[in-house]
Amino acid sequence: MVTAIIVAAGSGVRMGEGPPKQYRLLSGKPLLCHALSAFDRADCVDRLVLVTPKEEKLSVIRPIMERSPVKKPLALALGGDCRQGSVYNGLLASDPATEIVLVHDAARPFVSAAETARCVAAARAHGAAVLAHPASDTIKCADEEGRVLETLDRSRLWQVQTPQAFSFRLLLEAHEKALEEGFSGTDDAALVERLGRPVLLVFGSRWNIKITGPDDLLIAEAIMAARRGKLP
Ligand code: C5P
Repeated sequence: MVTAIIVAAGSGVRMGEGPPKQYRLLSGKPLLCHALSAFDRADCVDRLVLVTPKEEKLSVIRPIMERSPVKKPLALALGGDCRQGSVYNGLLASDPATEIVLVHDAARPFVSAAETARCVAAARAHGAAVLAHPASDTIKCADEEGRVLETLDRSRLWQVQTPQAFSFRLLLEAHEKALEEGFSGTDDAALVERLGRPVLLVFGSRWNIKITGPDDLLIAEAIMAARRGKLP
């Protein structure tokens, strides 16, 4: 069984005023519905878990789900104070028969079924796999005053995206160890890496952007329009 956890419990402060990021409209549909329907369409996924903000009332989620229903079984979980806590709650709400779990940011509406299938296959073979794209900018390390300390070797740098796919038991173990030891990472793979377990990179597309600020929403609308054939 493959379960996709979609984390949509952030407050989206970088988006500025207005509703939280996951409810912003992209082509007339809340952002979180784009991610949910991508996994609903993906043949390799059996079940869905949606993690919503802690203070969220079912009355907010229900009308959204009624407007964009999913066909696959869907469980709801409440978010944590940080992304890592939200993923952990999503793991606890997953069907225990899950073998492979996918973790995906609701803020990435453009994930494809092919990318999802490649991540699942790589996680079955290696235990852990993340979608990633080679870094196109040169990346420098700097101190607090903005003085460059080091220029990193770009040929070995990857920008990591979601979905990230794992053996369910491995990710649960990694989260429990991190919780016990007070470690917090910026993605789930980092928790598995610290167990000394291999994580495979799966080549992802540059379309799979994360919506962070209002400018990203403009880019996302342009991508949607291009997909509908309205842009060159
Ligand atoms: O803030 P950032 O863009 O890194 O968030 C990535 C994803 O994690 C978003 O989909 C956001 O809703 C989710 N998140 C969450 N719970 C939090 C913080 C972020 O589910 N407490």
